[in-house]
Amino acid sequence: MSRIARTGLIRRFILYLSMVRYGNAHNRDFAREHFAFFRRLCEDLDRLSFNLDGLRVLDVGCGKMTWLTLLLHSCGAQVTGIDTEWVKPGFSLSKYWSMLRTNGLERALRTLVWDSMYARPYYTELKRVCPFQLLFEGIDARAMSVVDLDFPDATFDLVVSHEVFEHLPNVDAALDELRRVMKPEAVTYIYTHSFTSISGGHHIAWKYPESEPSATVPPWDHLRDNRFPDIPSWVNGWREHQYRGAFERHFEVLDWIPTGNEGSALLTPEIRDELSQYTEHELLNKGFISVARPAPPARTERRG
Ligand SMILES: C[S@@+](CC[C@H](N)C(=O)[O-])C[C@H]1O[C@@H](n2cnc3c(N)ncnc32)[C@H](O)[C@@H]1O
Repeated sequence: MSRIARTGLIRRFILYLSMVRYGNAHNRDFAREHFAFFRRLCEDLDRLSFNLDGLRVLDVGCGKMTWLTLLLHSCGAQVTGIDTEWVKPGFSLSKYWSMLRTNGLERALRTLVWDSMYARPYYTELKRVCPFQLLFEGIDARAMSVVDLDFPDATFDLVVSHEVFEHLPNVDAALDELRRVMKPEAVTYIYTHSFTSISGGHHIAWKYPESEPSATVPPWDHLRDNRFPDIPSWVNGWREHQYRGAFERHFEVLDWIPTGNEGSALLTPEIRDELSQYTEHELLNKGFISVARPAPPARTERRG
């Protein structure tokens, strides 16, 4: 094995060790954070006069916990979760076998570790914080990519997504396909983790900048020297204005909601100077929710 391959393997091993440590420490926090997002979604939908009961919802990139699909399904929505990863809560040989074939060994092993070590405490906590009963029966989760949706035109009333768009190589293609499957009055509620935020590089060491600032990885390392590039999943590196532009090309933007600042105390005048090409908002705001409706079709010119 070459020295480069060996170094790569060691770095991967260290990454996985830190992921296990982080999973041990925080799997219950994830459940609480997820429920807080869901509560906010319900409040915002209420303002838009959406009633979840019977609503046809698409959850893009529902992930291995399928938590947003599960919560919406438990509230009476008719929701389908899609993900390129083979997602299905619980253990089954066929699940890991399908995953191995579709997503490769690394992805299958990661999910196996998650399912055996963290899924139970995660769902126990989600049940504890959730004021209604969680309905695991009848969850509709399918392996599918957002850029190639196997649904007829105008199927959905609502498209939700949590921390997925920053992982898409082709955001425009995804939005184009979403617009196709949305009814004309449908809306998106898409949360994107902002790449330029302190945690936006997806380094595990910066997952909790306020309570657990890293002593090893410098703040905003991914925008500076990028000396610690090992992260759990690939990110497209898009800035907020690029997403805004893409949404405006495909949708009528109804609301653009920043989700709050993090890391303000760590943005020293020296770092601010070094990162002068970014606005303060880009460096401090953790993410944004895009609420948008399919743009009405361009008016065709009438011939006189
Ligand atoms: C960071 S995870 C977020 C998962 C989940 N939404 C959550 O909040 O826990 C990103 C997910 O997006 C999925 N994903 C990436 N590209 C996708 C695509 N083109 N279509 C559908 N899902 C995709 C990944 O497989 C992964 O499960």
